[in-house]
Amino acid sequence: MHIHEDAEVSVVRHLSVDDPPSLHLGADEVPFVDLGEGNMLKVLQVFRLENVWITENIFQRGFESPKHVHTGNVWGHTTSGAWKYKESDFVNRAGSFLYEPAGAAHTLRILEDDTHVRWHIHGANLNLDDNGVVTSIITGESRLAYYFELCELQGFGRPPVLIH
Ligand SMILES: [Fe+2]
Repeated sequence: MHIHEDAEVSVVRHLSVDDPPSLHLGADEVPFVDLGEGNMLKVLQVFRLENVWITENIFQRGFESPKHVHTGNVWGHTTSGAWKYKESDFVNRAGSFLYEPAGAAHTLRILEDDTHVRWHIHGANLNLDDNGVVTSIITGESRLAYYFELCELQGFGRPPVLIH
């Protein structure tokens, strides 16, 4: 009994030392920037050193990404619309859960207007040409810089993206 109580005290003390605050972003606190033709991007959170980045897109039918490979794991959460990879048969729709393991290579193609996807990305995206040669690299840091540049250009100033 005494051992159990001591353990509880120890856990409580440990948790109270760090006490990190939870961080909340309301839906409108970080804006979508326009990438052209109604395709939109927002960057919600970036861990610079770990190269972990969480973004959200609104895509329109016909949008296609370059073929790319991920150096880390990626999760995609779709809340509306429809999209797929050229290389796969499954279709992501509202409520879909997608896990892309590190090393996966694919080409995103949007099937319906107003397709909303939130991405939880570890590592870099390596964009590839038809021969599999890397043509460009996107990291959390570079995506954030690109997003902030578009925010300035489109009159949104500097939104409170969570940056670590
Ligand atoms: Fe991908």
